[in-house]
Amino acid sequence: MDSEIRNPSLAAAGQLRIEWAASHMPVLASIKERFEKERPLEGLKIAACLHVTTETANLMLTLQAGGADAVLCASNPLSTQDETAAALVAAGIPTFAINAIDRDGYFRHLNRALDHQPVIAMDDGCDLVHLLHTDRRADLARVIAGTEETTTGVIRLRQMEADGALAYPVVAVNDTPTKHLFDNRYGTGQSTLDGITRATNILWAGKTVVIGGYGYGGRGLSMRARGLGARVIVTEIDHVKALESVMDGFESMSMIDAARIADVIITVTGNRDIVRDEHLEVIKDGCILANTGHFDVEINKEHLAARSVSIREVRPLVAGHRFADGRRVYLLAEGRLVNLAAAEGHPAAVMDMSFADQALTAEWLATHHGDLKAGVHDVPDEIDREVARLKLDTMGITIDTLTPEQQAYLSSWQHGT
Ligand SMILES: NC(=O)c1ccc[n+]([C@@H]2O[C@H](COP(=O)([O-])OP(=O)(O)OC[C@H]3O[C@@H](n4cnc5c(N)ncnc54)[C@H](O)[C@@H]3O)[C@@H](O)[C@H]2O)c1
Repeated sequence: MDSEIRNPSLAAAGQLRIEWAASHMPVLASIKERFEKERPLEGLKIAACLHVTTETANLMLTLQAGGADAVLCASNPLSTQDETAAALVAAGIPTFAINAIDRDGYFRHLNRALDHQPVIAMDDGCDLVHLLHTDRRADLARVIAGTEETTTGVIRLRQMEADGALAYPVVAVNDTPTKHLFDNRYGTGQSTLDGITRATNILWAGKTVVIGGYGYGGRGLSMRARGLGARVIVTEIDHVKALESVMDGFESMSMIDAARIADVIITVTGNRDIVRDEHLEVIKDGCILANTGHFDVEINKEHLAARSVSIREVRPLVAGHRFADGRRVYLLAEGRLVNLAAAEGHPAAVMDMSFADQALTAEWLATHHGDLKAGVHDVPDEIDREVARLKLDTMGITIDTLTPEQQAYLSSWQHGT
């Protein structure tokens, strides 16, 4: 099979890990079971550019069960689990992903996924979209639709749409509530702290932890860092978000003030240069820098390198930078998504919902793509509600339903004081 992975003999180990994740993804499992019977994606060529993790493997197996002819490439060079990639190839899913591959190899893998001639492109960070709109424009006409998994990708897509540059409809899976309310918040919150803990083995209790950005990811991180006993400081550029962080019980200040006292700085903004030279000038000796935003631009690595008189790997994925005045700063995982590079990304139970959204959206696109104009589209509300319903169901939780009187009351304007 057409594939490029590190080592096919890792397949058995990968298979075990995929099964473990599957046991925590009951919503996706129920969709897979239905897909096996109904085959709603029969013959549909799909290229997915996602983190090559056990959870993604379960999404790919669900698409395959639905009849899709699906291939996978990595959306980040450091997040690939080589054994998962090997297991996917053994399961008949062409995969192009090798952990820590260089830039050329990374783009070769994207191109090989597009060589598969997909009609649906599933993105996590817009790399397929970008390639299809630049070097691979000849392939654009064939693409009927796409999906986008993350905040950063959706921001780019909206910019492309505003510029009239987006050539096909893309569903913003990230923006649907059953995705970002849970994945971005609880997934990022837990797995980011997990990644930093695995890389450094620091004690969180008593640490001053600075979180750059109080969006969905930042909220989850702040909440979880506080739970571990840290003093949490938030930095923001949005007054409403900063105010929210204060009323949620955290401190809010500018990065220039926060950097002076931070034991750990974690960026999660989707923006660049959250930590830059002016902050490095005052940064506290021994500070740990980690990013969990999509791209490795949130901590300015050029500025860090320019200030460093020496750099050495003090532990795997921990680069110790020494400044001329003797201060040390530690950069984790080259400033890339630390939860995926140093841990395993989001736990399966939360990806269960994100990937249920992806699978049901792919099914919906198979029949509705013709109704959609080029541009960014929402996940249909009924998909979102169905995923929440299924998730609660698998947790054994029932909720109330409106009585006819309540329904009438909510739709009337005649009741007053
Ligand atoms: N690590 C993961 O697995 C994972 C999961 C989900 C999302 N993400 C990524 O994390 C990033 C954030 O996602 P989100 O869903 O939290 O986005 P969001 O839009 O909800 O929040 C981003 C926040 O950052 C703030 N911000 C922007 N520039 C800033 C600056 N200069 N200083 C301080 N704050 C600033 C914004 O005001 C906003 O409140 C994106 O890149 C997204 O793709 C990563």
